[in-house]
Amino acid sequence: MSIQKIALITGANKGIGLETARQLGQQKITLLIGARDAAKGEAAARQLREEGLEARAITIDVSDAASIRDAASLVGDEFGRLDILINNAGAMLDDPAKKVSEQSLDTWRSTFETNVFGLIATTQAFLPLLRKSEAGRIVNLSSILASNTLHLDPASPIYDFKLPAYNVSKSTVNAWTVQLAYELRDTPIKVNAAHPGWVKTDMGGEGATMELPDGAKTSVALATLPADGPSGAFLHLGEPLPW
Ligand SMILES: NC(=O)c1ccc[n+]([C@@H]2O[C@H](COP(=O)([O-])OP(=O)(O)OC[C@H]3O[C@@H](n4cnc5c(N)ncnc54)[C@H](OP(=O)(O)O)[C@@H]3O)[C@@H](O)[C@H]2O)c1
Repeated sequence: MSIQKIALITGANKGIGLETARQLGQQKITLLIGARDAAKGEAAARQLREEGLEARAITIDVSDAASIRDAASLVGDEFGRLDILINNAGAMLDDPAKKVSEQSLDTWRSTFETNVFGLIATTQAFLPLLRKSEAGRIVNLSSILASNTLHLDPASPIYDFKLPAYNVSKSTVNAWTVQLAYELRDTPIKVNAAHPGWVKTDMGGEGATMELPDGAKTSVALATLPADGPSGAFLHLGEPLPW
């Protein structure tokens, strides 16, 4: 009998995070529904339980060190390990009416606080528990907008999507993923960066091309990689993206 895996998904009260949780739950994985708003997290966990999945809410604001610490203590006390960490919480705060050079430093700082420092702090806090898993998996939600190669190519579909604070934050997530994969190279833990696609969520907007069930597939696949799967990669639906 195999031991039931435990997954924490940050920003799982809605959007890609909630759908990722749902699809992992359908694989009989125990879900810890991370949400910065406890009531929203509880509502999402209740919804998943009503669908027959094993889910409980856990309050975690990735820009709040105390909240991360408390969440890690709770998971340590109750489960003693973590098998899957999905760093899904993210924010896009650039003002699209402003030029690249004109985004405020407040925008840069707030974006990095959540997308970069929050992601790193969460990973640092949960890494000791992931090391206790037989096969820890870390999924960092990046974006195709992280790709400097594509941003330099006038023929690429993202060439005109210059949201600098968001884009550079996700490029930094990619770079961090490579650095952490190096440290973890001789362990069973894999860490990868995911581009979910352009997905219909509050962030992706109505014009997005992918529905939620497909938008969660990359995160789910990277969370459940086999032992011979990649680490330190930047992937969308199994295909590598240019850095
Ligand atoms: N949608 C796309 O097309 C797309 C494309 C590429 C990459 N992504 C990435 O995929 C991830 C999920 O995006 P989404 O489209 O599902 O966005 P979304 O619907 O806006 O959901 C974002 C989630 O992140 C949470 N969050 C934001 N700041 C947080 C913080 N400080 N602490 C904890 N949670 C926080 C939000 O919580 P609240 O509900 O409390 O605000 C929400 O649960 C993000 O990292 C995003 O950058 C999305």
